[in-house]
Amino acid sequence: MKVSVIGAGNVGATCAQIIAQKNIVSEVVLVDIKEGLSEGKSLDLWQAAPINHYDTRLSGFTNNYSKTKNSDVVVITAGVPRQPGMSRDDLIAINAGVVKNVTENVVKHSPRAKIIVVSNPLDVMTYVAFIASQKPKNEVIGMAGILDTARFRAFLAEALDVSPRDIHTVLMGGHGDTMIPLSRYTTVAGIPVTELIDAEKLEAIIERTKKGGGELVNLMGTSAWYAPGAAAAKMVEAIVLNQKRIFPCCIKLEGEFGLNNVFVGVPVKLGKNGVEKVIEIALNEEEKRLLHTSARTVRKMMDVLDGMGIL
Ligand SMILES: NC(=O)c1ccc[n+]([C@@H]2O[C@H](COP(=O)([O-])OP(=O)(O)OC[C@H]3O[C@@H](n4cnc5c(N)ncnc54)[C@H](O)[C@@H]3O)[C@@H](O)[C@H]2O)c1
Repeated sequence: MKVSVIGAGNVGATCAQIIAQKNIVSEVVLVDIKEGLSEGKSLDLWQAAPINHYDTRLSGFTNNYSKTKNSDVVVITAGVPRQPGMSRDDLIAINAGVVKNVTENVVKHSPRAKIIVVSNPLDVMTYVAFIASQKPKNEVIGMAGILDTARFRAFLAEALDVSPRDIHTVLMGGHGDTMIPLSRYTTVAGIPVTELIDAEKLEAIIERTKKGGGELVNLMGTSAWYAPGAAAAKMVEAIVLNQKRIFPCCIKLEGEFGLNNVFVGVPVKLGKNGVEKVIEIALNEEEKRLLHTSARTVRKMMDVLDGMGIL
């Protein structure tokens, strides 16, 4: 199995490192436009192999997509991250051009690759990659939900003083302030979370989760990479090992949850074919309303993008 990661910045390099450390693929290729960056980071990561006990070969190239030939999975992290005061949507003009160009180059050399999009604004960039790749919708998947649920789980684990591994949850909607952590579908080792935490504390954690990315941008001056890189690597793992894991991922909806032709996060089954199923969980009226509001926000940004004439 071969995985290519486009963009060797914070998220891309972290993702490559975690994939290598999992020892689940034979080859990881990094590509970036910055001269020497992919070459340097991949060499550094390869030199960590004897210490961290992995066999995955790593190599890096400047803007050379022929080296990504026949990748099974490609992770797109190329583009700019946000800075304090910016929303993810502010990145649309720059990153749409980048993701379009990258996707076209990727599919030229790896027509069968599953594409995982990480660049922001996530839902709209997944739309860009879908159009630019001309691939079936189950093969172009956006990463946001694993990260957003991880933030929710981490905050809950801290508040309840339990292992984050025991917390399971569902989160839907766009990767922004309108995302919907679903407390009704959140359990701690099978126990409904609402039995373990009072409503006010839970609400505060939900609010912190929604602004979890912004909290880190304000602390570091740029967006996060450890958890995002790990989240993208988790999706790669599910695909290359055909694990059929259930994760919230961004995908084009065609009627599911009453939504059409919009890219938002929903629970899906990830396996060797990419998204193998959208899991249509039952939503109550309020949850449906929130999901449709979130989808409308994404739709508006897709319309803004359509108006730019980039695609
Ligand atoms: N989906 C999520 O949950 C999530 C989480 C964190 C970050 N992100 C997004 O991921 C992207 C990357 O973030 P980062 O922190 O790694 O940024 P970064 O600046 O550290 O890295 C981005 C890299 O992309 C490269 N790049 C730019 N244009 C390119 C092109 N045309 N071809 C190839 N490479 C190109 C840059 O040279 C840079 O090395 C940003 O858009 C960020 O907003 C998404």
